[in-house]
Amino acid sequence: MAKYVAAGKTGEFKDGSKKKVSLEGQEIMLAKVGNDYYAVGNRCPHLKGDLSAGKLEGAIITCPRHGSQFDIRDGRNVRWLKGAGLLAAVGKALKSPRDLASYRVKVEGDTISVEI
Ligand code: FES
Repeated sequence: MAKYVAAGKTGEFKDGSKKKVSLEGQEIMLAKVGNDYYAVGNRCPHLKGDLSAGKLEGAIITCPRHGSQFDIRDGRNVRWLKGAGLLAAVGKALKSPRDLASYRVKVEGDTISVEI
């Protein structure tokens, strides 16, 4: 049964910041975009790149390994691998695009909680 687990404090985040948290054995990236907080799986579904080490622009996180991009508002894949060369074509053929897990977030007082 799903439950909310405390994941951080609002004071830790400014707009555009993110961090990796481990909750109930799951690695999650928690981020603030504007006034909202979002939680998605932290490992890229391509080859497990650490998304918390990637670049967050607006709501789009770019994987630091091969440039796949995801919308952290819903986990949707918006680009699968970077580039259009032969290597990218082979990579795309070998592993098809996948979305990130997306988690509900709530804020009570200064505590940010994620539904696990
Ligand atoms: S591991 Fe993320 S794009 Fe390859």
